[in-house]
Amino acid sequence: MQNSAVLPFGPNSDQSKIIDEIKEGMKENGYLCSDTIANVLYLAEKLQKPVLVEGPAGVGKTELAKALSGMKKAELIRLQCYEGLDEAKALYEWNYKKQLLHIQAMQGKDLDWEKIEENIFDEDFLLSRPLLKAITSDKPTVLLIDEIDKVDLEFEALLLEILSDFQISIPELGTIKAKNPPFVILTSNNTRELTEALKRRCLFLFLDYPDMDRELEIVKLKVPELPEHLAKQIVRVVRLIRSMDIKKSPSISETLDWARAIFYLGVDSLDRQTVETTLNVLLKYQGDMERVTQSLRSGLRV
Ligand SMILES: Nc1ncnc2c1ncn2[C@@H]1O[C@H](COP(=O)(O)OP(=O)(O)O)[C@@H](O)[C@H]1O
Ligand SMILES: [Mg+2]
Repeated sequence: MQNSAVLPFGPNSDQSKIIDEIKEGMKENGYLCSDTIANVLYLAEKLQKPVLVEGPAGVGKTELAKALSGMKKAELIRLQCYEGLDEAKALYEWNYKKQLLHIQAMQGKDLDWEKIEENIFDEDFLLSRPLLKAITSDKPTVLLIDEIDKVDLEFEALLLEILSDFQISIPELGTIKAKNPPFVILTSNNTRELTEALKRRCLFLFLDYPDMDRELEIVKLKVPELPEHLAKQIVRVVRLIRSMDIKKSPSISETLDWARAIFYLGVDSLDRQTVETTLNVLLKYQGDMERVTQSLRSGLRV
């Protein structure tokens, strides 16, 4: 018989204790971690690498970063990405007004232009945006770069220096290196393929809809006031609907919204009528609602 302790990938008690501690710490901050998630968080910290979390909308990508910052008692600095996001909004911007005022104040004094220029391109005239803020912070931070798939390739390239070296180069000032490297979480809804260069710098974590037991656990954690038998029914029906051919499957967000709605309606049990009248909480397209209603009426049991 082989001794598991000598296997290269065998369970290591210290290691599994740390993983359990991460799961516990995240749960205290309202987030249920699988072993896979906890392992990625552990390794990201050890290897000082950003984590790229990919998966459909509403499966807990953003919340992961929030709970992590809670667990680490670190400030959460969030950069919400959108189409057209540029350097000035994400990294830094020169404070033109302040620079102008300074130039005006210097007029009449016997200073050469070079000296003034040196003054106005000083850190005092810099407006920090989220990425620079995270790099220059004295305190531990979690930097959430949310929905990175919404920006263009040019912007992605801009991130590479930060992600691999935790530094930002400002032509007028030089390179600013992080005193305290932030714990970086990037999320993507996968609306486009990210570049190899970006992926290479990150640890990859794919989040999908959870299995039944985990989703039930999440409902119990987030909507503890809901009786367990209803929580079970809700999770079962959501899974059933996810298996249908519809445009937008309900995610965990919708499961939780639905669970809260059912609680406020004060029903004892989830019957077809209740499901039908509350489908709008779960589904976002009229076509999907019609499709599910039809299935319910043609005998699908809830
Ligand atoms: N593992 C989890 N533990 C606790 N809550 C979760 C978990 N996964 C998802 N949620 C809940 O699902 C909802 C959607 O999560 P969110 O992070 O906004 O999704 P995403 O960023 O992937 O679109 C949030 O209310 C969050 O609390
Ligand atoms: Mg999100």
